[in-house]
Amino acid sequence: MHTLWKLCGYLPERMHSAEFQIDDKHNYIMKNSIDISLCKNCRLCTEVCPCNIIEHNGTIHFAPEKEHICQHCGQCMAICPTKAIGIKGLSYENDFSDIPSDRLDYNGFMDFLSTRRSIRTFKDQAVDDEIMDQIADSVSYAPYGASPEMMELSIINNRNIIESALPIISRFLDDLVQKIENPVASFFIRRVAGKEDFHTVKNHIYPIAKSGNYKPGKRDGITRGAPSIIIIHSAADAEAHTSNGLVYATYIMLAAHSFGLGATMVQIVPAAINQSKKLKEIFKVPEENEAIMSVIIGHPKHRYQRIIKRKTHTIHKVQ
Ligand SMILES: Cc1cc2nc3c(=O)[nH]c(=O)nc-3n(C[C@H](O)[C@H](O)[C@H](O)COP(=O)(O)O)c2cc1C
Repeated sequence: MHTLWKLCGYLPERMHSAEFQIDDKHNYIMKNSIDISLCKNCRLCTEVCPCNIIEHNGTIHFAPEKEHICQHCGQCMAICPTKAIGIKGLSYENDFSDIPSDRLDYNGFMDFLSTRRSIRTFKDQAVDDEIMDQIADSVSYAPYGASPEMMELSIINNRNIIESALPIISRFLDDLVQKIENPVASFFIRRVAGKEDFHTVKNHIYPIAKSGNYKPGKRDGITRGAPSIIIIHSAADAEAHTSNGLVYATYIMLAAHSFGLGATMVQIVPAAINQSKKLKEIFKVPEENEAIMSVIIGHPKHRYQRIIKRKTHTIHKVQ
């Protein structure tokens, strides 16, 4: 998928058809505008535009032959000191707000990051609906590879609904154990899923599933008794949806942490959803959609006493 993305470049096909019209001479009809009476010719918009579609030759204007690749990211409108730019579908009144004056410094940021842990033990206490909405709202500030309008979230703030899904997820995992232990099935899973997913399943999920940790019983080893879960999903053929989904999940976890809530990404839930119509129904994931990641959320039962210092990655310095 990543290779395909590179080959296709930065031009989501859907945007051509949905957002732009072509006239009878096969020219794209201009949709974006610059109010020349307000424009001070500072050219900041030309510098920040990721697609280089704003040009300057005497006056600032959108290059007609390139305008169809506008991503509607709003960078030009966000930087314009005089609000001279109009991007189709965006307005200064509704889609922008002022930049807050206080900014987190590096130490504050690192303290925030280092105090986050994956939380898997929760108090028997519901999370406010409003807070869940605010957590989900954090994804609107996430970077995206393409087509953010294709990304969808299901917010399940009801433990009973989550519990109704657990036996189905558990059966999915039992089935996975049987398949991994069967050399023929295992061979085909590897062929279809690819090396990365196959190794994740075989070396990580299979041993845990085999140990019985995911079986329904006293302890919920799947969603860990969490009162809430957010499922990130998208049309299965949407550009960059897997990468977008993982970035969104990260934002959701960090937003939960900012409220003092605990969160954990749980990959086995979307894996099961993608194999079950019933789970898609329960979590309101449209049938044609692919679930990418889930994040369980709740009030943490315990407080950690210390931060772990980790260096799990390798750095190659190239100078
Ligand atoms: C892509 C991804 C998938 C994950 N899947 C699961 C999961 O299925 N179940 C779970 O309990 N934790 C899951 N985690 C959480 C990791 O186990 C956790 O981040 C890791 O152990 C490091 O611990 P920390 O987050 O507390 O620093 C996942 C994390 C990521 C990034």
